Amino acid sequence: MDAFSTAEQDSVVPITLISAPAHKRSATGIGQIALPYPNGWFAAGFSHQLLAEQVQRVSFMGQELVLYRTASGIARAIDPYCPHLGAHLGYGGKVVGEELVCPFHGLAFNPDGLCVRTAGGQKPPVAALTQRYTTEVDGVIFVWRHQDDLPPYWQLPVLDRAGFSQGRYENFVLQGLCQDMTENSADPLHFAYLHGLQEVVTRHQEDRHQMTYTMQAKVFGQAVNMKMRCFGLGYAVGEAEFARLGLIARTQALGTQITPLSWDFRMIDTIRVERVSRLPHRLQRLVYAALLLYIHRWFVKTVKEDFDVWRNRRFVEQPKLIAGEGNMAVYRRWTTQFYPQGDLE
Ligand code: FES
Ligand SMILES: [Fe+2]
Repeated sequence: MDAFSTAEQDSVVPITLISAPAHKRSATGIGQIALPYPNGWFAAGFSHQLLAEQVQRVSFMGQELVLYRTASGIARAIDPYCPHLGAHLGYGGKVVGEELVCPFHGLAFNPDGLCVRTAGGQKPPVAALTQRYTTEVDGVIFVWRHQDDLPPYWQLPVLDRAGFSQGRYENFVLQGLCQDMTENSADPLHFAYLHGLQEVVTRHQEDRHQMTYTMQAKVFGQAVNMKMRCFGLGYAVGEAEFARLGLIARTQALGTQITPLSWDFRMIDTIRVERVSRLPHRLQRLVYAALLLYIHRWFVKTVKEDFDVWRNRRFVEQPKLIAGEGNMAVYRRWTTQFYPQGDLE
């Protein structure tokens, strides 16, 4: 007998289609979405964590990279596999002087990545490591990433560190998108609502890969001028100037996508206080250490207020913006230059 007899079909009550509002649904829900890995400079690690003659593995945009530092201090980032027979240089690779030596058959590679020596004294093959474009500035090892394999077409700035304290460092692994870090600077309303700043006024200035936000606000009853410079989507330098105190608190914020929906968030905090920068060096260090601890705690507390949102938010491609969010619209348009053409347009 057929699954549905005529009699049964006759007894089916016809469904009346009713028009439902577009924002209601009955199908299975939707979750977070990944974006393509963005292009630009992204942190692969802190400089001080890669000592001379060390080899490290790091997660970077869906793959592993091997970082190493030669005896003279040159930092290199490479794709992990040896061109000889494919050993992973992050497992047992050793730095000997200026060379990286493979753990499998002992081929040695110079800082230009070229094979220069074999363990048995044979002529080295014409072979090279696959090096990644790397630059090391202001305490950070950056690696360039481009989906079409283009070399870097913009450079990172070197910060003026005169009179600034030593840095304090943090590293968090977060679920979500590294883009949230730079988007934070473009989002004036959340500074008031989520972080409790008062009288927030922001402006933006766009210059190719660089976006600068300036913001006036009040915090702890003190007027503060903030300047946040984003260099692509992986690096933002924020400076909060408390003019009455003669204090500048600086954060270098670094976001690197690791997997489609997880990222490394690193930060380095430093301060400069006009009066302290004139003290003798030893005294200056002591005063800075105490002050920086306090400021650093404030920065970490502030940024942690974002974490639950960042970890769980869903990228809304066409956000419904409200008055006072012009920066956000500009920011979203600016970000499209860092993604495969057309992906976010
Ligand atoms: S695989 Fe590296 S030396 Fe053979
Ligand atoms: Fe925030």
